[in-house]
Amino acid sequence: MNAGHIEYALYRILAYCNQPSANEFTATARHPAQTIGGRNMSPHQSDLVDRAIADNIALDGAALPILHAIQDRIGHVPAAAVPKIAHALNLSRAEVHGVISFYHHFRTEPRGRHLLQVCRAEACQAMGGERLAKQVTDQLGIEFHHTTPDGAVTLEAVYCLGNCACAPAMLLDGEPHGRLDAATVEALLAEARA
Ligand code: FES
Repeated sequence: MNAGHIEYALYRILAYCNQPSANEFTATARHPAQTIGGRNMSPHQSDLVDRAIADNIALDGAALPILHAIQDRIGHVPAAAVPKIAHALNLSRAEVHGVISFYHHFRTEPRGRHLLQVCRAEACQAMGGERLAKQVTDQLGIEFHHTTPDGAVTLEAVYCLGNCACAPAMLLDGEPHGRLDAATVEALLAEARA
């Protein structure tokens, strides 16, 4: 994390301390937020966003719980959710975009049918993680934080899966794979794209 990231993180902490109360949100909710967002969301997704906001707005530092809830329920954070979140938290859209882009965990596009999470932390790096990452990006033809054009695989970087003893490691759809070699990775990726 560089100085810019630290400065931004401090700024975010201060911003969270100034979020509106649940009562303030209830008052704003009398004027439905659908008129603010919803351009690229189905009515169902729009409803899920509204509920994710309502379920988490009273929490301290509600921005991250709201974003997590939206991604858990929809699979990503649609662009049209940003104005709703900004309105609920009394933040600018740019501030909400800033939080989303700061944390690589959040996706702004629908994820593929399979989610591949490759560990890029130190123990895995020491055991050939960089070679593994290159094989994965070459074989899939995409960089990290992207989805293959056929919609089969979304590739994400993670930083320690708690599986260091089996480095290098990755998760495919939540299932751990460790002590990976080139042949195993090739077979796993081929299966995911089949
Ligand atoms: S560093 Fe990769 S699992 Fe811990």
